[in-house]
Amino acid sequence: MKPITKVVIPVAGWGTRSLPATKNIPKEMLPIYNKPVIQYVVEEAQASGMHNVILITNRDKSVIEDHFDHNLQLEGYLANKGKTEMLDAVKHVAEMVNIISIRQKEQKGLGHAILCAKAAIGHEPFSVMVGDDLIFGGTPGIQQLVDVAMSENKPVVGVMEVPWANVDKYGIVDGEEVGNGIYRVNDMVEKPAKDKAPSRLAIVGRYVLTPDIFEYLEKTEPGVGGEIQLTDAMRMLCKERGMMAVKIRGKRFDAGNWPEFLSANIYFGLQDENIRYPLIEELKQFLVLE
Ligand code: UTP
Repeated sequence: MKPITKVVIPVAGWGTRSLPATKNIPKEMLPIYNKPVIQYVVEEAQASGMHNVILITNRDKSVIEDHFDHNLQLEGYLANKGKTEMLDAVKHVAEMVNIISIRQKEQKGLGHAILCAKAAIGHEPFSVMVGDDLIFGGTPGIQQLVDVAMSENKPVVGVMEVPWANVDKYGIVDGEEVGNGIYRVNDMVEKPAKDKAPSRLAIVGRYVLTPDIFEYLEKTEPGVGGEIQLTDAMRMLCKERGMMAVKIRGKRFDAGNWPEFLSANIYFGLQDENIRYPLIEELKQFLVLE
């Protein structure tokens, strides 16, 4: 498989679970400690050698593109004040990656959002990273998929084990383990009933896909929730080309889910020596650990 340099990051959803916070601010711009959610995702892409980021956006999300551009007025102000550390931090964000932005004009689901990237992708394999799914620790999450895509020459989907009680909230993979945490996928099903799920390997927001996925997305009828589901098109891709799944190593936070979003904020606060102890003192005031 050719090297993967392009990543599609869909951020065009409504973010209804995060309302009212997201009435006028994209969910991807909510902060996790001192950076917006989307910056962590782009940092993971960059650390995995993907410097061309295709953002699938909507009319209310242009602030995301602005975040990855220079703000010359702010940079001038910080330079004048001699705040060089902050200046470097804001410049760094603007210089991280190339951004190509494409509007999804109607919110017809994740599969439809990916289809919007067809012209920008062309004939190369590419990756997809969901813009509110965060993975940390060790080898970057998407790099773990790329490694398997390269060695197996097949599309790859990222999975994590979830409790049986939660299988109906995810796309679930039916596969057989062929290596440590690596599976050959037989099939997959979107949000199965708890007693019908083939496993508890849930698809999380990381994929390596081949460009023939667009052909299948074009044929995909609206599925669960009236949306064009990426999982439905991937089933066809899997039948034609085969597919692997990788159990992603690392800690995952779904930033669209309040307990996980808040937990991610504490996790990152605790990592920073400058605020670790004041944060623990704050938490002690109202946290009774049993
Ligand atoms: P989610 O299922 O998290 O949907 O989408 P959402 O609309 O963002 O949030 P909730 O569930 O209403 O709170 C998964 C990913 O697919 C993108 C979202 O932006 C998110 O990154 N997406 C979803 C699109 O880009 N377009 C869509 O039509 C739907």
